[in-house]
This record gives sequence, C-alpha cells and structure tokens, in this order.
Amino acid sequence: MKKGKVLVTGGLGYIGSHTVVELQNAGYSVVVVDNLINSQADVKERIEAITNKTVSFYNEDVTDYDGLTKVFKKNKNIDAVIHFAAFKAVGESMEKPLDYYYNNVGGLMTLLDVMEDFECTNMVFSSSCTVYGQPEVLPVTENSPVLKAWSPYGSTKIMCEQILSDVTQAKKLRNVSLRYFNPVGAHASALIGELPKGVPNNLVPFITQSAAGKRGPIVVHGNDYNTQDGTCIRDYIHVVDLAKAHVKALEYLNNSPIDYHVFNLGTGKGSSVLEVIHAFESATGEKLDYSIGERRSGDVEQVWADTSFANEVLGWKSELSLEEMMRTAWEWQKSLAK
Ligand code: NAD
Ligand code: WQD
Repeated sequence: MKKGKVLVTGGLGYIGSHTVVELQNAGYSVVVVDNLINSQADVKERIEAITNKTVSFYNEDVTDYDGLTKVFKKNKNIDAVIHFAAFKAVGESMEKPLDYYYNNVGGLMTLLDVMEDFECTNMVFSSSCTVYGQPEVLPVTENSPVLKAWSPYGSTKIMCEQILSDVTQAKKLRNVSLRYFNPVGAHASALIGELPKGVPNNLVPFITQSAAGKRGPIVVHGNDYNTQDGTCIRDYIHVVDLAKAHVKALEYLNNSPIDYHVFNLGTGKGSSVLEVIHAFESATGEKLDYSIGERRSGDVEQVWADTSFANEVLGWKSELSLEEMMRTAWEWQKSLAK
C-alpha cells in the first residue's frame, strides 16, 4: 500500500491516538472515527499539536452502518482500516456482557460490511494476549493454543479473530490481528496518554494515581505465585512502540497475499509486579506505598511474548525500556493534574 488514506476507528483513545501520531509522522493521511465513549474530543487537537497535521475526525459509532457509510462516502479511497474501537474493561464485561458483544463483535461486523461496499480490503485489528489465557509453555508464540476466555471481553477478542479469519477468503481481505501484551506509558510530549475512568484496575495507571495522591497505597494482588518474587509476570510494552508496529503492519499488508495474519506485540521480556513498582520508583524518584494483598480472581500467573515473528516478518522491534514506560506514564499523570 502506498502512503495512502487510513481510517482509524477509536483513534482518539489510548492506543489509537498514539498510532495516529505515528501514522501522520510516517506520511499517511488519517481519518478518525470515534464516538468518544471512552475518550475526549480535545485529543484531536493534542494529536495535531504533536504532528502539526490535521486529523479528519467523525463522531460516529462503528456499530452504525449509515454513520460509517457517510464517512466512507466523504473520504474517497480509504486504503486501509485500523480497528481499535471497542470496550476493554474486563470486570465491566462480566456485568454487561451483551454491551460488549454488541459493541466489539457488532462493531467489527458492521465495519466489515461497509468496507466491502467501498472495496476496502486491508484491515488491522486490535487483539489481545488475553486470547492465550495461562499458556503452558512460555514465551507464547502465535501458534500457542487460544484458550477459552474467562471474561466476555476476552471472548469478544477470540470471536472477532475467528470472524476475520472466516471472512478473509470470501471477502478477499488482507487482515492482520495484532495481539497486544500490556501496553503502558505515554507519548514523550505528555500531550496524550491513557485516560482511565474511575478507579483504575490496571497496574500502571493505579501506580501513577497512587504516586500523585489520587489513590491510596497500591495493593499487590498476591505474592505466592510460582515466580521469582512470587508476584505475577506480564510483558509490558511502551504504547509508542506498539503504535509504530501498526505502521509496519500497514506496510506488510501492502505486500501480503489475501490471508489472515496474527502477530504478538510485546517486548519478549516479562516483569513482575514488584519489578514494575521498583522501576517506577527508580525512573521517577517517587516513593510508592504498597502492601501485599490477596490474589485477584482471574489473573494468570505469568505471560510474555515470543516476538520473533513480528521482529522478522514485520521488521519491528520494541525499543523503549520499562523505566521509559514508567517515566512517561508519570509525566502524563503530572500533566493531567495541571
Ligand atoms: P480506549 O478505550 O482508550 O480506546 C478505544 C476508543 O474507541 C475510545 O476512544 C472509545 O471512545 C472508542 N470507541 C469504543 N466503542 C466505539 C464505538 N462503538 N464506535 C466508535 N468509537 C468507539 O482503549 P485502548 O486501550 O486504546 O484499546 C484499543 C483497542 O486495543 C481495543 O480494541 C482494546 O480491546 C485493545 N487492547 C487494549 C489493551 C490495553 O491494555 N489497553 C490490550 C489489548 C488489546
Ligand atoms: C497486571 C498485573 C495484577 C493492579 C489486562 C486485561 C487484558 C489486557 C491487558 C486488554 C496483574 C497486578 C494490578 C493493582 C496489582 N487488556 N495488579 N495491583 O490483568 O495483565 O491484563 O490488561 O486486552 O485483557 O485483563 O493487566 O494491569 O490489570 O495487571 O497487583 O492494583 O498487576 O494482579 O498481575 P492484566 P493489569
């Protein structure tokens, strides 16, 4: 694909906004669809302040066929779609499973229909390491088994991947599903970052809010796991590294056959909860208050990625360290307080 026009759904959200920046920096023209259900309209201006380029933004819902059709009509020749728009809170998905199926699965199906109407045949989809559950063998490769999800959110990712792989030949689509591990950190400008609603469930937003005095001490969810220090291990990846992988995925789609392709996006290195806490302290000079609590239900013990397929085939490799993830997350938290 030439450096053409890319539609980014959910482009004002956390990963989407960082990806729009990288796409614009790489010379793509970007159209964003976002219904602002988990983001704010001023993210558009913040992206524009970073890149000095205009973002064409539509406040539309990806489950709305007519709304999406309008966007494709107004923007002729969209070469590819990067589909971020979805709900992502695991706990909420247990309380409102149907909302998750309508939005995440329904949104993908509607988008695929509209793409077909406009003969748009390239798609990058946001999947998740959640599809692996607790793998028996580490690190996980793209061929590791996909396990039954324990949350409706996880099920939507497995279903969406299945739908994409099923429609590829019939609809003549080139699809890439990117299985993100744990995205953290923020843009170096501190103009964009994650905007968690309410009390964060995820570790790094909780750490930064705790350090900022917005929350109490961190509770480490269990230290009796079968890991070096007893706390769970994850593969944390800087959101800017993740965003850059999407640019590589578009380049790959241009040269790939009609098929369904899956890539792990992580650093290939696992870090424990305590290592993350200490990395935050050493990267920022802030002291964290924490205690050890009970295990959190549904947590897998340890997971990290084998990234060699993405390294070799996409020509992409993560570059930013855990300290850089913590430093930028903290700069973003401080900028929010201003
Ligand atoms: P986010 O909530 O910050 O961004 C999603 C964006 O999509 C938001 O701006 C939201 O307003 C928008 N949106 C949601 N439903 C929509 C709809 N029906 N129509 C239009 N816009 C809609 O989330 P994120 O962290 O940037 O995640 C992006 C994608 O990556 C999601 O698909 C998520 O499931 C996936 N993912 C995220 C993580 C993570 O830890 N952040 C990990 C793995 C996969
Ligand atoms: C990381 C570790 C916690 C908070 C989630 C989703 C997954 C994917 C990525 C989208 C765990 C521990 C956390 C706290 C803690 N998202 N922790 N104290 O659970 O790996 O994955 O985000 O696809 O689907 O489930 O990320 O940041 O919640 O937790 O000790 O206050 O930090 O127990 O071991 P997780 P997380």
